[in-house]
Amino acid sequence: MEIVEKHVENYIKEHIPTKDSFFCEMEQYAKEYYVPIISPESLRFLETILLLHKPKKILEIGTAIGYSALNFCRILKGDCTVTTYERNQKRYDTAKAFITRSEYSNNIDVVYSDATEGIDLGDAIYDMAFIDAGKSQYQFFFDQIYPHIKKGGILVSDNVLFRGEVCQKSELDVTKRNRTIYRRMNNYLSFLMTENNRFHTSLIPIGDGMAVTIKMEDEMTLR
Ligand SMILES: C[S@@+](CC[C@H](N)C(=O)[O-])C[C@H]1O[C@@H](n2cnc3c(N)ncnc32)[C@H](O)[C@@H]1O
Repeated sequence: MEIVEKHVENYIKEHIPTKDSFFCEMEQYAKEYYVPIISPESLRFLETILLLHKPKKILEIGTAIGYSALNFCRILKGDCTVTTYERNQKRYDTAKAFITRSEYSNNIDVVYSDATEGIDLGDAIYDMAFIDAGKSQYQFFFDQIYPHIKKGGILVSDNVLFRGEVCQKSELDVTKRNRTIYRRMNNYLSFLMTENNRFHTSLIPIGDGMAVTIKMEDEMTLR
């Protein structure tokens, strides 16, 4: 199942300029070793948000090989720091290697940790967060991160429509192994989209679906 018709998606992709050889090498690596990285059209959209919002401090859950984190630094011309969590040893090592080779080695801190076991953010406050890890855990990640987002800050959740599976009328229409994701993601999206004074969310059918949440309150408490 596709969220956007293939010919429309291809049309958008064809119009996105090719990146330099370093990023092409990362894309090639991801393809060869089946590492999921952000889709070109989702990255392009995120770049627009980054250019508008100009975050100085970014938090990411789900580094993979460091492709999105490095692209954040690229589009912001290095005027930011990124703290990013990865639980897979091989991907963590690969991300570190790519980041060390890049011109942004001082901008990115990769944390080798399973974010479901808690994200120790201390008293850090971020301008933006990007959640791009285990889809069943998004509410948990949000709850951990939200108090650390500044007022006016942005929290982006990627892959929230999960190839359109999340939009099925009933969980019985979803393959058995995806039902937990279906249930949890539907609850998460209902939570994000409920009218409230604390944050505002827009659900975008791009890539595998992206939820963009803007924090409107100041307080550090949640729910
Ligand atoms: C979709 S990939 C991230 C892609 C990356 N953001 C990019 O666009 O270049 C998701 C990554 O999250 C990692 N991951 C999944 N659950 C995690 C968790 N609980 N804590 C830390 N990393 C996790 C996976 O190992 C995987 O590498």
